[in-house]
Amino acid sequence: MGTYDFKTQPSVVIQGAMDVETEYLIGQLRDRECITLGNWTFYTGFLGAGGTPVIVSKTFQGMVNAAAATSLAMVFFAPAAVINQGIGGGHDPKLHVGDIVIGTSVAPMGAMMRPFAAAGAGIGDADFSPLGLEVFNREWGEARKLTDFSCSEALVRVAEETAEKFLSEEKQAGGTKRRIVRGVLGSADEWNNQLDRITLLRERFCTAEEDMESAATAQVCAAYGAPFLGIRILSNTIVNGEDYDERVAVIGQRFVVRFAEALAQKIDGTNIRGI
Ligand code: 5AD
Repeated sequence: MGTYDFKTQPSVVIQGAMDVETEYLIGQLRDRECITLGNWTFYTGFLGAGGTPVIVSKTFQGMVNAAAATSLAMVFFAPAAVINQGIGGGHDPKLHVGDIVIGTSVAPMGAMMRPFAAAGAGIGDADFSPLGLEVFNREWGEARKLTDFSCSEALVRVAEETAEKFLSEEKQAGGTKRRIVRGVLGSADEWNNQLDRITLLRERFCTAEEDMESAATAQVCAAYGAPFLGIRILSNTIVNGEDYDERVAVIGQRFVVRFAEALAQKIDGTNIRGI
């Protein structure tokens, strides 16, 4: 791993599920090295102008894959922070393909408690409440049941500062207009296209978008007390009838490079936990 020891020196894990969500980042890494842990690959290197030490992790799609990749990263690298980024589907009608949501919290929206209904009473799809998921954190000394996972407020602020600069750079370059907003990320092993269902999910979980990984990563981060941030660029939004275009994933990664640069300026010596 060169002279920088990613196992003991501070670094940030940046995850993406698919090649289209990770290849640009991997290509931007200086002094890149590939490490394989079990079935998952991790690319160490230095990202952006300030050379932020990062580990790009391709998780594969879905909650279990994201959780497994995060657990491996936690044990092997003990990262100072974990960023789960990639594409997502819009829930908030104000958002369009190409807009970016900076997660304030993440809801595991597939975790539902359904009340008793007698045989023959039918299946009320709206009949559910969020189900708490068990998280054991050694520092708490107990398992707690959580229905959502917060993103690090400090990381959210860095992302918002980055957003301002990113948008003005894009404006100067004459690029397309996009919104970068705060919002709740919702994840499950689901792809929802029923508009009434999306409305209901928004009512229960206040989701701005949906994806299939961020809540799983956030749950593992909560167990380890590791600062977490989810960033999603909309590749589709059925609520506005906008079809899937995964090419936006590169724009999301360009934003993440800028974010990593901003983060480097906050890194003080060996400890970025305080950010
Ligand atoms: N619903 C769920 N996941 C989506 N993704 C993009 N759009 C959606 C959507 N509407 C993301 C998931 C997954 C892949 C299919 O892209 O996170 O990894």
